[in-house]
Amino acid sequence: MPGRQLIMSFPVTATSHSLAEYRARGGYQALEKALKTMQPAGIIKEITASGLQGRGGAAFSMGRKWQVIVYDDGQPHYLIANADEGEPGTFKDRWILENNPHVLLESMLIASYALNVRNCFVYIRGEFDLPYRRLAAAVEEAYAAGYFGERILGTDFSCDIVVYRGAGAYVAGEASGLIASLEGKKSYPRNRPPRLTVKGLYQRPTVVNNVESLSNIAWIIAHGAAAYKEVGTPKSPGTRLFSVSGHVNKPGVYEVELGYPWMKFLDEDCGGIVGGKPIKCVVPGGVSSKVLTGAEIKELVLSHEALWDAGSTLGSGGMIVIAEGTCMVTLSQILMRFYHHESCGQCTPCRHGTGWLHRIMDRIVAGNGRPEDIERLYYISKFNDGTTICGLGDAAGYAMSGILDKFRDEFEYYIEHKRSRYDGNLECLKSS
Ligand SMILES: Cc1cc2nc3c(=O)[nH]c(=O)nc-3n(C[C@H](O)[C@H](O)[C@H](O)COP(=O)(O)O)c2cc1C
Repeated sequence: MPGRQLIMSFPVTATSHSLAEYRARGGYQALEKALKTMQPAGIIKEITASGLQGRGGAAFSMGRKWQVIVYDDGQPHYLIANADEGEPGTFKDRWILENNPHVLLESMLIASYALNVRNCFVYIRGEFDLPYRRLAAAVEEAYAAGYFGERILGTDFSCDIVVYRGAGAYVAGEASGLIASLEGKKSYPRNRPPRLTVKGLYQRPTVVNNVESLSNIAWIIAHGAAAYKEVGTPKSPGTRLFSVSGHVNKPGVYEVELGYPWMKFLDEDCGGIVGGKPIKCVVPGGVSSKVLTGAEIKELVLSHEALWDAGSTLGSGGMIVIAEGTCMVTLSQILMRFYHHESCGQCTPCRHGTGWLHRIMDRIVAGNGRPEDIERLYYISKFNDGTTICGLGDAAGYAMSGILDKFRDEFEYYIEHKRSRYDGNLECLKSS
């Protein structure tokens, strides 16, 4: 593994997702420790002290989110694992669901005990087949072993779990859209306040966390917050799973200790760039994060603070590596088609803005671009920013303006010559 310490990955075999093998790796001992030796408040304190940040995109403090839940307010509380994983380029939660589903279940049980949750949910992307089957089988195993149900491990704690399959909408990965979908409605996000931790599923306090965020819990409880903080950097503790695709020789999912040098990761762990070409740019954390050029990433380490300082984000951990010779105009057209198609249409700036961005990109790629189109793309990207209920409209603008900032000359060339400088080369997408 790149870095010193493994938190959740291990060499995968044909049976390593089973309960027997999870137990052989020490599985469910953290649950026993939590239920028999720790108070719920002590668990929340430990998670807060670990500095664990959400892995779903925004890197929000896990402990701060959990602290909003009032343990004994007399209402039902809910916990939802967000396994929608719709962000293009991102496939790391899928690795956990397929290969280590019990780490998610054990972590959710510990979280449910800490947050006074009787019923928890996994909202899983509708298109996921093997991840769903592996997770459903793990749930069955866990029930049979007495980890779910009444009076777990002989304690007063009882908990049930429901695995709910989505229907394939990107916006259903947004936490409030996810809750609407789980309630049987269209996955329309809603404005906050009230926060979901105050009024979430069925109008009750609800914690929504990403699969990978939650899967850290068992390790933190087993080894303690201090041990967790020894891994990574002071501002980015722990490891992250990166799903790497595009122009690398060894695409795949890697667990990386935060603070690890980026170029070392790409050159040594990911086997370098296909054909030995120079890196043109990298999408660091899903297409909603701003691209960074090959020159910009040279001296960077993989940490939240390093990426924020560089004007981007580690986002969802979906890293797309793009080699020299790839057409960024055609790539932008594909991205804008995606955002336009996935906009739920509730908010005018997103409904129209993503459509305008898409149609302008179509026009440019068809050879009918106008010189003023570049400023227009910038204007629409800014116009979307912060004017919508959820982050989808913002993300379309970040992706568009991020590419324009770095590769404006390619757009100018395309508009003037009515064709790509690279003949629309998108090899990077084919290899992923
Ligand atoms: C359009 C959109 C799609 C999203 N999709 C996902 C997703 O697939 N998985 C995920 O964990 N978070 C996704 N999020 C972020 C969630 O709203 C939420 O912040 C996250 O699940 C919280 O978990 P965390 O704090 O553990 O990161 C999405 C956000 C937006 C705006």
